[in-house]
Amino acid sequence: MNNVQQNDPLLPGYSFNVHLVSGLTPIEKSGKFDFFIDRPKGLNGYIINLTYAGQGTIYRNDESFNCYPGDFVLFPPKEPHLYGRKEDESNWFHFWIYFRPKSTWKYLLSWENRIEKTGFYRPNTKVKEELEQLFIKIVEVGQSTTIYSENLAMSMLEQFLIRRAQETSNTHPPNIDTRVLQVCNYLIDTLDEHEFMLDTVAQKVCLSTSRIAHIFKDQMGMSIGEWRQEQRVSRAKILLQTTNMSIADIGRSIGFEDQLYFSRIFKKRIGLSPQKYRYSTQEQHERKIQNVNSLYFFDKQNNTNSLT
Ligand code: FCB
Repeated sequence: MNNVQQNDPLLPGYSFNVHLVSGLTPIEKSGKFDFFIDRPKGLNGYIINLTYAGQGTIYRNDESFNCYPGDFVLFPPKEPHLYGRKEDESNWFHFWIYFRPKSTWKYLLSWENRIEKTGFYRPNTKVKEELEQLFIKIVEVGQSTTIYSENLAMSMLEQFLIRRAQETSNTHPPNIDTRVLQVCNYLIDTLDEHEFMLDTVAQKVCLSTSRIAHIFKDQMGMSIGEWRQEQRVSRAKILLQTTNMSIADIGRSIGFEDQLYFSRIFKKRIGLSPQKYRYSTQEQHERKIQNVNSLYFFDKQNNTNSLT
C-alpha cells in the first residue's frame, strides 16, 4: 500500500481533515483490508475502536495486547497506531469513530491506559450490549448524509462517554465550578462581539482576572481566550455547512469584522479556509456514501460472523 492521498478512510492516505468520521473496518485474512494500520505519529484527533468480531492485536514497541468482541480502545491525539488482525484469527471486524472532542470532554476521555497512553475499556456484561449498540448507532449516524448528522453523532458520542464514565469507578463526574459555567454562558452569549474583556468576565463572577483565568484553565484545559475562539470556529462551521450566508456575514456574526482575519483564524484551527471547508463538506457527503457501502458489505458478512 502506498500513502497517496485518497478519499477512503479505510485505506492509508486519508487525510482525516474532518471533525468526525466513522466506519467499520471488516478485516478478513488475505482480504482487501488485511494490512496493519500503521500511523507512527498518530492522528490529530481521538479514535475509539470497538471490536465486533474476531480479534485484533495492538502493538507498541515490545508490548502488545489483544482485543476481543466488546472491547473498546481509545487512541488520544498523536498516540502511535500499529494494529491489525490477530495473526491466528481469520478476521477482525472493528467499528471506529475518529473525532475532535468538545472542550468539556476532558474528563470523559481519561480512560485507564493499557500501553502508554492507549486507553482500554471492557464493559461488564450488564452494560456491554447497551454500549455496543449505542456505539454502532453513532457510527451509522456519523455516516449519514443528513444535515446536522455530525452534530447528532457528537451529541450521541458524548452520551456514550458519559455512560462509560458512569460505569467505571476510576472516573469521577467533573465538578465544574459554577463560576466557570457562568463564564462559558457569558462567552457564548457574546460571541458576536469583536473582542472580550477579561476584566468584564472577571467582574461577572466577582473574581480577580488572574484567579478566574487560573480556575478556568484548570477546569477546562485551555485559556478563556482559546475556549472562546473554539466556540466561534464551531459556530462558523455550522453556519458554513447549513446556510448560504456569505463568509463575511458569518465572520461578522461571530465578531470578526475583517474577513481575511476570520479566514486566517479559521484555517489555522480547521486546516482549510472557510470557502474550502464549505466545499469539502459537500465532498464529504459523497465520501460518506462510499463508507455506507462498507456497512452493506458488513451486513452480508454478519450472518457468518455472529458474536454468539
Ligand atoms: C481506519 C482504521 C480504523 C481507524 C480509522 C480511523 O482506516 O481501519 O481502525 O483507525 O481508520
